[in-house]
Amino acid sequence: MEVWILYGDDIESNADLAHEVRRFQVEGQKMDVTVKVIRPDQFDLLVSHDARDSILINGKAVPLPDFVFPYFNHHDHSYFSLAIVRQLEQLGVHVYNGAQTIETVRDKLHTHQILAESGITTPDTMLAKFPVDMKLVEDRIGFPVVVKTLNGALGIGVFLIETQSAFRDLMELVGETNPNLQLIFQKFVAQSKGRDLRLFVVDGEVIASMERRAKDGGFKANYSSGASVHEFIPDADAIDMAIKTAQVLDIDIGGIDLLFNEGGGYTICEANTFPGFKGLEKASGVNVASKILESMQRRMAQKKNALSDALIHQDNDAPNSGISHISAE
Ligand SMILES: Nc1ncnc2c1ncn2[C@@H]1O[C@H](COP(=O)(O)OP(=O)(O)O)[C@@H](O)[C@H]1O
Ligand SMILES: [Mg+2]
Repeated sequence: MEVWILYGDDIESNADLAHEVRRFQVEGQKMDVTVKVIRPDQFDLLVSHDARDSILINGKAVPLPDFVFPYFNHHDHSYFSLAIVRQLEQLGVHVYNGAQTIETVRDKLHTHQILAESGITTPDTMLAKFPVDMKLVEDRIGFPVVVKTLNGALGIGVFLIETQSAFRDLMELVGETNPNLQLIFQKFVAQSKGRDLRLFVVDGEVIASMERRAKDGGFKANYSSGASVHEFIPDADAIDMAIKTAQVLDIDIGGIDLLFNEGGGYTICEANTFPGFKGLEKASGVNVASKILESMQRRMAQKKNALSDALIHQDNDAPNSGISHISAE
């Protein structure tokens, strides 16, 4: 099996997800899986009737892989990278996760819209409009309020604003300087301050999980911002919620983050289609990289079986097909 990981940074560096890409290379070697790491900017796309040569790498047409894993880091929001994924999907290559899913999940409001529509608990969330209607925010979301950039990651664009006056000041600043900034306002889940759960879903199954705790009394539990990670055995509710979330968002591989709700239970914080797993492997002891590659192998085997089944049926359904070829001469 050949897997392409689409990754834009230097894999030997400390860049976001570089460690994980190296882990795939190590595990791939043990499992006889060829893992090729290709930067999106090495591709050229040709849209033509002849699908065979539509993907070029470094200017040359190449045989397509069995599986593609887009693993874009948080600053790659380019149209180009998504177009590559779309083209590969169109050519029938297996892709974990598809372009549509990547686009939806990258948009925090869209994610919450789909979850709410599917009956999955999420914190009340509102899209910002300038000038901000303070009364509406006060009535519907309340204070403290969590303010997030629409497409942020790694906790970078997430703020906890404690009071109405601090919120007003911040909104005036944004309204004056950058009114086109896309922001959401979200109910603060106080019970979960500084801690959350990460459940890692691969092809409909939770393969590993952990609890993350923010450092120094902060409220963001992102591993990348220094949170500590702890083993966590999820209960049936948490597992069910993570699997359903992945299902409705059509996520094949995802980090599903849960917050602890007041009065028990959970609420979905967000989903990630490019989840890191350095902290998770440490906390859970699970070999996440090999689990992902194994899941790809299973999918490939299923596809092969389905194909051979279809061929057998075709043969059985068309007993005269051999004769018609001869008589055509
Ligand atoms: N509504 C909320 N209530 C309480 N804590 C939150 C809330 N939203 C986010 N957090 C905390 O902030 C962290 C980062 O928020 P998140 O929405 O996951 O943004 P990012 O995509 O940048 O990781 C979460 O892991 C969680 O610890
Ligand atoms: Mg997050």
